[in-house]
Amino acid sequence: MHAQSHRSDGRTLGRRTLEQDHRHLVGLLRPGLSVLDVGCAGGAITVGIAKAVGPDGLVVGVDRDPSQLETARAHGMEHANLRFELGDAGSLPYRSQFDIVTAARTLPWIPDPEQAVSAMARAAKPGGSVVILDYNHEDNGWAPAPPVEFQRFYQAFLDWRTAHSWDNRMAAHLPALMEAAGLVEVQSHIQDEVVERGDPGFPARTSLWIEVIDSVGAQVVQGGYCPDADLQTVRRLYEEWVLTELTRQTLAMRTVTGRVP
Ligand SMILES: C[S@@+](CC[C@H](N)C(=O)[O-])C[C@H]1O[C@@H](n2cnc3c(N)ncnc32)[C@H](O)[C@@H]1O
Repeated sequence: MHAQSHRSDGRTLGRRTLEQDHRHLVGLLRPGLSVLDVGCAGGAITVGIAKAVGPDGLVVGVDRDPSQLETARAHGMEHANLRFELGDAGSLPYRSQFDIVTAARTLPWIPDPEQAVSAMARAAKPGGSVVILDYNHEDNGWAPAPPVEFQRFYQAFLDWRTAHSWDNRMAAHLPALMEAAGLVEVQSHIQDEVVERGDPGFPARTSLWIEVIDSVGAQVVQGGYCPDADLQTVRRLYEEWVLTELTRQTLAMRTVTGRVP
């Protein structure tokens, strides 16, 4: 199976902000810091990082997807302290350059995350930090339980990911990967994204799974992980259930931090 066989959906990515979607990092940013954001996509979070470190800081966003970088460059144009570069997380060219090297929701799409974590550790200065936010997809949950058609699709999505060697418990495995990369003081912080009916973000955050169905659903079905699923039906039943029944969605996430000795 190959790594670049899906493209992230721009709708959710474009809505993200540093403050809401990379919360632990906010408390670590200071004016003047240099930060590398690996898997920056369209730069929605990266622009927030550039604002937080200010004109004396420097921010580089890296992504392997040129179309995402085009969006990012347009988005970040007015920030002189921000640039975007095409690159692969596993072969980052930077050495001891950044105060903070971060990645949010990137490693669960990489079949060899140990290489990426090592490359991130090498990119950070001595004394600098690596800050990684990721999912434990197997622990995501909904209350009450979703329609059985969506449950089957979600299990098939996990199976499709496993077949690509994409880790469905990425966040749980990060501390060991970071220690193996030579980082010290490794700490895992609970960062679950919980949204409840009535919260202002409820419609947008629950539409993540519509976007997953739209962006990778056909690959999941054609790959034979749920061959009998009719995606339009799964999508409609999920949408109706969100409108009428869903009360709480929990995305199981952790921010794991470590320091270069
Ligand atoms: C789910 S998006 C997350 C974007 C952003 N960090 C966020 O939290 O909204 C994952 C991004 O990682 C990028 N990506 C995946 N594998 C990569 C790799 N090996 N090297 C660089 N970027 C990668 C994808 O192109 C995509 O833009």
